[in-house]
Amino acid sequence: MTSLESRIDAWYERIDTLTPDNVEARRDVELVITKLDDGQLRVAEVEPGGAVTVHEWVRRAILLLFRLRGIQRYDVGPFEYADKLELKHDFERRGVRVVPGASARRGSFLSPGVILMPSYVNIGAWVGAGTMVDTWATVGSCAQIGANVHLAGGVGIGGVLEPANAVPVVIEDDAFIGSRCMIVEGARVGRGSVLGAGTILNPSIPVIDAQTGDELSRGHVPDFCVAVSAGRRREFPGGEYVLPCVLVIRRLSEGERHDKVALNAILRDHGVAT
Ligand SMILES: CC(C)(COP(=O)(O)OP(=O)(O)OC[C@H]1O[C@@H](n2cnc3c(N)ncnc32)[C@H](O)[C@@H]1OP(=O)(O)O)[C@@H](O)C(=O)NCCC(=O)NCCS
Repeated sequence: MTSLESRIDAWYERIDTLTPDNVEARRDVELVITKLDDGQLRVAEVEPGGAVTVHEWVRRAILLLFRLRGIQRYDVGPFEYADKLELKHDFERRGVRVVPGASARRGSFLSPGVILMPSYVNIGAWVGAGTMVDTWATVGSCAQIGANVHLAGGVGIGGVLEPANAVPVVIEDDAFIGSRCMIVEGARVGRGSVLGAGTILNPSIPVIDAQTGDELSRGHVPDFCVAVSAGRRREFPGGEYVLPCVLVIRRLSEGERHDKVALNAILRDHGVAT
């Protein structure tokens, strides 16, 4: 445990007593946020064996930040905002392309080659190199998005500042998430997988193999799968209903890209090697 980590844990134990006047707590918390912003710290990461490690103390620092900051007013042209947190800056230096209408909060990390169409990236989120966050997609707090991912238009990636101890959503490298998918509460999409438009995935939703009928998991689409939203019959005392599931309709070979979701290099080129 680093000394910064132990100090954050100590501040968190007395979070109810803290106010924006507490200079020492603010110094520690702001340091964590700066390190998140620069990618030196992450809220969570996928270990080489596949397990997700959550650095709970980093998430606590984000919660402390809300406690230690007052509301500030910002005027941008005709728009007025009132918030406790700042937006991210310095995109050109970071090699990130940001289309007008996009916002990312300070304390999110965007790797070189990321493209933000008019979209939103919340604090604590981590986005890998070459990933496209398409129009009206939202990357919730602490979500972990891999490299060369495409979050298509209107995708909702849930955030996990609340409840405490929730695991962030993880989208692994090279995944394609179709338009208007909702992926929340620690759900996970494996490397190279394709999720059909309009799929809902959370840790309660069964992921079923269409070839065998086996339930592969709840809320976790394995690597290199093509999966779509489907329904399964369920009996209740009140009758039979169809509840959603996610159906793996096809397996890709390792490294294969589905021909319908191949990346268009010309849309992604912004002169940054990723
Ligand atoms: C998932 C997807 C890649 C599947 O493409 P595919 O492998 O060529 O599969 P098909 O189109 O042959 O569909 C296979 C079956 O799944 C069904 N299906 C396809 N997409 C579906 C979806 N999003 N939800 C539910 N079912 C779907 C089809 O009806 C078809 O059923 P059938 O076998 O009875 O005919 C594609 O349908 C999709 O959703 N692409 C995402 C599009 C998108 O969001 N673009 C973003 C632009 S910003």
